[in-house]
Amino acid sequence: MSTSTLLLSFLALSSVVSADYFSKDPLNQKVVPHDQIPYHVMTDTDDPRGFQSGYNICNSTTENQESLCQTMYVNHIDDWCLWAPAPPNTTIADAEGDVVAWCSKAGHGTRIIPAGAVTGLQFVQTKSYIQVAGTLNQALLNVGGTDGGELDSGGQDGEGNPMGGLVYSNAFPSSNGDNNTFAQVQHWSFFIGNGAFCGKVCDMTGSNPGGLCNNIYDRLGCDYNAPNTAQEGTFEFCQGDDMTPVGTYVVNGVTSVYTQPPEASPIDYDNLPYTATPAPTSSCVPYQSADLFAAGATISGAGELFRLRSAPAGASGAKTSSKPSGSTSGSAASPSASGSSGASAAWGVSGAAVVAGVVAVFAL
Ligand SMILES: *[C@@H]1O[C@H](CO)[C@@H](O)[C@H](O)[C@H]1NC(C)=O
Ligand SMILES: *[C@@H]1O[C@H](CO)[C@@H](O)[C@H](O)[C@H]1NC(C)=O
Ligand SMILES: *[C@@H]1O[C@H](CO)[C@@H](O)[C@H](O)[C@H]1NC(C)=O
Repeated sequence: MSTSTLLLSFLALSSVVSADYFSKDPLNQKVVPHDQIPYHVMTDTDDPRGFQSGYNICNSTTENQESLCQTMYVNHIDDWCLWAPAPPNTTIADAEGDVVAWCSKAGHGTRIIPAGAVTGLQFVQTKSYIQVAGTLNQALLNVGGTDGGELDSGGQDGEGNPMGGLVYSNAFPSSNGDNNTFAQVQHWSFFIGNGAFCGKVCDMTGSNPGGLCNNIYDRLGCDYNAPNTAQEGTFEFCQGDDMTPVGTYVVNGVTSVYTQPPEASPIDYDNLPYTATPAPTSSCVPYQSADLFAAGATISGAGELFRLRSAPAGASGAKTSSKPSGSTSGSAASPSASGSSGASAAWGVSGAAVVAGVVAVFAL
């Protein structure tokens, strides 16, 4: 059967912006116990990219479709979140520093993922991380354009994307099955765009969180960062083996590490030195989408109606990347297309990723 390849075309977003600034207090080194979350986890006020645009204290008063909550959770297949733009129809390139949490379940003080937004889902738990991947009607999550991008706890300046984004889970062994015990996730990466998404949140007490949730392969998309077998129309929870660390591969018993070229250099996606294969999964349990996204059943997908950084002080134009030439070669490949599209078609920019129905949603 078909393996949905969840092919994304990614802009190289990191490091486009003023390379000179790097936080002295990087997000992925902050220790923030769940009961001590501050209003803004970001503390640097001198970052040329600006300051955190949302907030981290999220509760019933912030739980609505205009929420700017930037604290999110990856717990269980019926209780997880992703990052997506606050204003409608916004590209990840434009929104990366300001994306907000959208969750499948109420109770986290965030926006709720509208029913129908996630059209396929594979939620895999391994001994070292949780991986979530699927297909999207991305307009319902305010994602515009056809290019996607990476959101992670690193970012070009150490502040993360979103700046000040916090991630927690109650599903790692340290919680002992108690849903009210949350572990902070310091290493995580998400990719979203072109009708698909994937993410990995690493258990800080598991094996190699920095390698398994590496954030330096931002131009390689889901196939390499979170190899998976998600398919449109299928919703499943699986146990899984750990993948090899992102970028690491073994050929004839020899282990090598791929280095992503600098942003200015094109990547020949047809001739990468290896093809990443999804790590084995087992004990997969199917679910009904209506059960997983019940909280979003009455939500139409409307969102923030103004652009957060339209007139930012001291950040003019800096955060929007220009298109790197390396990201636009190749033919279109719709991520939801069934059948095994070859890796060679994987990297094209799809002009057909925006589905019918988009106009109706935003014409309201
Ligand atoms: C709820 O969240 C808002 C926004 O972060 C915050 O201002 C408020 O103090 C919180 N309320 C409580 C009771 O924690
Ligand atoms: C924790 O939450 C999940 C669903 O998100 C649920 O299936 C499980 O039963 C809960 N565990 C406990 C101990 O309540
Ligand atoms: C989304 O934005 C693009 C670029 O500005 C625009 O061409 C398109 O019409 C917009 N789509 C919707 C549904 O508003």
